[in-house]
Amino acid sequence: MNDQLQTIEDPRMKGVSRRNFIKGVIAGGVAASSATYLFRASSLLGQQPHGLVDRLITLNVNGQQRRVEVAKQETLAWTLRYKLGLTGTKLGCDRAECGACTVLLDEVPHYSCSVLTHTVRSRQILTIEGLAKPNGTLHPVQQGVIDEQGFQCAFCMSGFIMSAVGFLKTNPNPTRLEMAHGLSGNLCRCQDYDKILTAMMRGAENMRKAQHA
Ligand code: FES
Ligand code: FES
Repeated sequence: MNDQLQTIEDPRMKGVSRRNFIKGVIAGGVAASSATYLFRASSLLGQQPHGLVDRLITLNVNGQQRRVEVAKQETLAWTLRYKLGLTGTKLGCDRAECGACTVLLDEVPHYSCSVLTHTVRSRQILTIEGLAKPNGTLHPVQQGVIDEQGFQCAFCMSGFIMSAVGFLKTNPNPTRLEMAHGLSGNLCRCQDYDKILTAMMRGAENMRKAQHA
């Protein structure tokens, strides 16, 4: 579609095309419903773990060594979002049901809301922010979302993308049914599953093309 025709009307976004805006959203995993997050973050801050002294530890996040103070009972989702500013990782249920918080630990998808941060000191943590190349080229699965215009509100998007990236490492050429099974730990409150699956299948195709290019 023509970028000029898609220019967003909001004066703050003057000159920013819809396509480029969406690309930025996908690269950073920022959901359109950021106001919801502000609300959730402020209410969660009241529940921040306390009582035990924070320990300074080093995490390997997106290929970088990050020093951070964490409490013994602090979850990885909490650390990523509220200590390291990596808000592309979402918190939906916060109890291992929705998959919105999915990140890769040593290339395997995990619910970061159910992992204690201090237990992953020696692991490679990959979040949605670490998928694109430094030059801004999106990961093939992220590009699949652009290609197919997948997702509605995109709250669940980064979790789905991270699960798909992990799943494709074990099955790079899945059938649609296999992909659906691979993503069955992720829920979409907009119930946009068919479009999401199409986007993830396009991502798989993009990955195979990139590997054979
Ligand atoms: S927020 Fe972790 S599974 Fe829902
Ligand atoms: S697109 Fe809205 S939660 Fe999945």
